[in-house]
Amino acid sequence: MSGSPDGVLGGGTPVPDELVRRARALAVPGRRAVLGITGPPGAGKSTLARALVDVLGPERAVEVGMDGFHLSDAVLAAHGSRERKGAIDTFDDAGYAALVDRLADARPGDPPVYAPVFRREIEEPVAAGVEVRADVPLVVTEGNYLLAASGAWPRARARMAEVWYVDVPDDVRLARLTERHRAFGKSPDDAHRWARGSDQANADLIARTRDAADLLVVGEGRPPSGPGPDPLRSSRPAGGRTGPRRLGGPADAQRSR
Ligand SMILES: Nc1ncnc2c1ncn2[C@@H]1O[C@H](COP(=O)(O)OP(=O)(O)O)[C@@H](O)[C@H]1O
Ligand SMILES: [Mg+2]
Repeated sequence: MSGSPDGVLGGGTPVPDELVRRARALAVPGRRAVLGITGPPGAGKSTLARALVDVLGPERAVEVGMDGFHLSDAVLAAHGSRERKGAIDTFDDAGYAALVDRLADARPGDPPVYAPVFRREIEEPVAAGVEVRADVPLVVTEGNYLLAASGAWPRARARMAEVWYVDVPDDVRLARLTERHRAFGKSPDDAHRWARGSDQANADLIARTRDAADLLVVGEGRPPSGPGPDPLRSSRPAGGRTGPRRLGGPADAQRSR
């Protein structure tokens, strides 16, 4: 895993200016906003979230992944769902919603909030993996199910100022996902099987949430081993609104007038 330099996406693409501008507009000192980034597995959510946080810097933004709410392998085994790890019912959605509530409610002077992280090397969540200081105005949270309509997901979404949906053509997404599974220790066969089996069922569910996004962030879809970076561009969802939804709640009050 070679790390990306600050503020650039995989392959060396800078984060598009419009995205940096929108994130900066949410990162107002003295307040707290939560920005969500969603999309199917392998689309580049984590990469974009990390790059945005890098651009804004640690005083302005911090990343909190939904992936920290993966159920542990022990619980998945008890549920008989280990083979579907990553499916919507293999996450603690209520736990995530409670955390997003705490993150959205935090104001300067409050104690820090500790969020779990998912460690891909061991494929397990780890508690208190990231410290979110109350004076950092923007929390960037990313994951598969931010726009899902079931369970506690809508509760979490309601505390997010905006949710962006990252998309790339499916063939490229699958190639990236397979490569990532391999890089983290799966055999080529297993990597292929996961990307096209369990992960694909999740991708189909996630794709149906696309139109609920406030912004689409679309890559041209150059493969990971390709000759150059994959530039991203942003647009409004086809079925969509003309601007961010107003959902009420403190995190939303500061949005578009
Ligand atoms: N814009 C991009 N250009 C080229 N490669 C990218 C881009 N965004 C992500 N990738 C690569 O694609 C793979 C999946 O990205 P990741 O951010 O982990 O996806 P997600 O979090 O949506 O599952 C990673 O190997 C990453 O380096
Ligand atoms: Mg990710």
